[in-house]
Amino acid sequence: MATNVLIAFYSRNGSTEALAKAVAEGAQAAGAEVRLRRARDIVAPEVMASVPGWADNAKRMEALYPAPTADDIEWADGIIFGSPTRYGNVTAELKAYIDSLGGVWFQGKFNGKAGSVFCATMGTHGGAETTSVTLWPVLAHLGLIIVPTGYADPIMFQAGTPYSAHAAVDGQHVTAVPANDLEVARYQGRRVTQVAAALKPLRG
Ligand SMILES: Cc1cc2nc3c(=O)[nH]c(=O)nc-3n(C[C@H](O)[C@H](O)[C@H](O)COP(=O)(O)O)c2cc1C
Repeated sequence: MATNVLIAFYSRNGSTEALAKAVAEGAQAAGAEVRLRRARDIVAPEVMASVPGWADNAKRMEALYPAPTADDIEWADGIIFGSPTRYGNVTAELKAYIDSLGGVWFQGKFNGKAGSVFCATMGTHGGAETTSVTLWPVLAHLGLIIVPTGYADPIMFQAGTPYSAHAAVDGQHVTAVPANDLEVARYQGRRVTQVAAALKPLRG
């Protein structure tokens, strides 16, 4: 039976989206069935209109990726959250999705599943590590088994952090996520799939 991996991300400029697609490639290469889902915008339309590209990108991504739901959590064996950095922390958009999941949390639908995080920043030292690690207590509350990237693959000596894949990209001006960062994301997708598959029989 396939291992089901949910990749629930938010992205406005496309960097986190590029990482999410690479995570999905890695997960699929490890045999996962993947759902790619983008959390919806929650800021006012004026804010989305204030930066060229934001509203158009949102429209494009809404057509490609359904909004994540509680059913996706029930379906998944592995859950990977992706977010751009906001002041060294996760986006309100991704957190709003997670905060909508109290019902499935109460029913124990996260328990014993693999959980992991990736993120995009603008600056190399713009808070990638804090953004990913800030979500770890949330993963613990949900009952997920936290899967860090560690240094268990040679690519980790080239890019990424031991906590997660990340890309340092000024999304408003640069569209390409560096190849090494995408490779770390693929590795993270593989790793989470492997851990999720190993945990699945233990959940009963
Ligand atoms: C309100 C706001 C706060 C941000 N805070 C940070 C930050 O603390 N550090 C950083 O490096 N980038 C910060 N950024 C930039 C984004 O995290 C960065 O452009 C990211 O790559 C965007 O991801 P996306 O392309 O998936 O939308 C901020 C952007 C916004 C709009």
